[in-house]
Amino acid sequence: MDKSAMNRVRQGAERLLHRNRRILRKNGKDYHFTCPDDIMYQGQWLWDSCFHVMALRWFDPDFAKNELRSLVSGQWPDGRIPNMVHLRPFYRRIEHFTGRDTSGITQPPILADAVWGIYETTGDRAFLEEMFQPLCRFHDWLSVDRDPDGDGLISVYHPWETGIDNSPRWDTIFGVDPAKFKRWKFNIPKTKLIMLFNFVSGYRSERMRRVSLFDVEAIDMNCYYCRNTATLARIAGELGHGGLREKYELRAEDTAQAINTKMYDPATGAYYCLEGRGERMLKALTPFSLLPLYAGIAAPDRAERLIERLSDPDTFWTEYPVPTVDIKHPAFDPAQYWRGTVWVNTNWLMVQGLRRYGRQDMARELALRTIAMVDRSGFREYYDPFTGQGHGAGHFGWSSLVIDLIETLDRDS
Ligand code: GLC
Repeated sequence: MDKSAMNRVRQGAERLLHRNRRILRKNGKDYHFTCPDDIMYQGQWLWDSCFHVMALRWFDPDFAKNELRSLVSGQWPDGRIPNMVHLRPFYRRIEHFTGRDTSGITQPPILADAVWGIYETTGDRAFLEEMFQPLCRFHDWLSVDRDPDGDGLISVYHPWETGIDNSPRWDTIFGVDPAKFKRWKFNIPKTKLIMLFNFVSGYRSERMRRVSLFDVEAIDMNCYYCRNTATLARIAGELGHGGLREKYELRAEDTAQAINTKMYDPATGAYYCLEGRGERMLKALTPFSLLPLYAGIAAPDRAERLIERLSDPDTFWTEYPVPTVDIKHPAFDPAQYWRGTVWVNTNWLMVQGLRRYGRQDMARELALRTIAMVDRSGFREYYDPFTGQGHGAGHFGWSSLVIDLIETLDRDS
């Protein structure tokens, strides 16, 4: 890929982030954030914002800082950070009855990495200090409220909390026949769950668990949690809080150990989610099964097997990698949301994992193919893994992660 193509993609990504920019005035205060898409997804979303700032940090770090300030303004007194903040009144009336202008469920805890990412490009310690308390409160809430069996693994009670709404991983829980999957049909049980949280559990975690038929220790959530708890320990160290550094280091180690002992399946050489109190393994192979690479917690022999899966053209290494389920899986569909299409954020996570294990060659190749895909089809929500054709939202915020891929193309860690 030549320099001019790379510049074209980069400039397009900057334009996109400007286009989706919102400044909201509430009770005399301004909130700055980027909405995931200016038509389909209004408001601010937790993990989307973390990805946006990984791109923004390279050309508008002040906006990136404000985006995270706006996000943590939605934090609840108990420490949770909701998946959506600055909800439009419409959603408050039909979906999320929390008494606030936020939802009550959460999303992938990748905020510590986003904060650290800004620190990397700005060296702004005051910002690190400002984000430290909200981060500690969020992680403490996860470790208490969301680890009811105390095994070091956190649980989610709604597929939306993983950000991977209709992954084939959830099919057996919802009784979905993969051959007959319809997105609108699957939205019914998901909306029912939200109504139960609204009217029965009042968003109290132990009650959410009791009423939800979805009770999952998800491999992706735990890898994000583990890596970000380690990052939080690093932030604590940087700020001179030795005791807290140790506390979060130990917690990250506990989670790493639990992932490695409970979620690994030697027969298939991959990691999987655990469902319900009996911790049944949900054995659909998706790239999320490979995230221990991103968390840096897979032993070398296991990492080798994970990388083999990733580079296998009959599994994940298609013309435009990485499809969100093994292409041999019965649910695989090259045009259907999280059921086989390619997402820029998933690829970005894979690139981080490959770098962590010294596979700079493959990380670079994946980054380049991702940039080429965006150059070909624009900043779409998701893409066909064989043709690179774009689908879903037309101006999708986190596809701007290509900026970070370009800036770090030759990095090896
Ligand atoms: C969809 C995605 C979720 C994302 C949200 C906003 O619900 O599945 O991961 O956060 O849209 O972009």
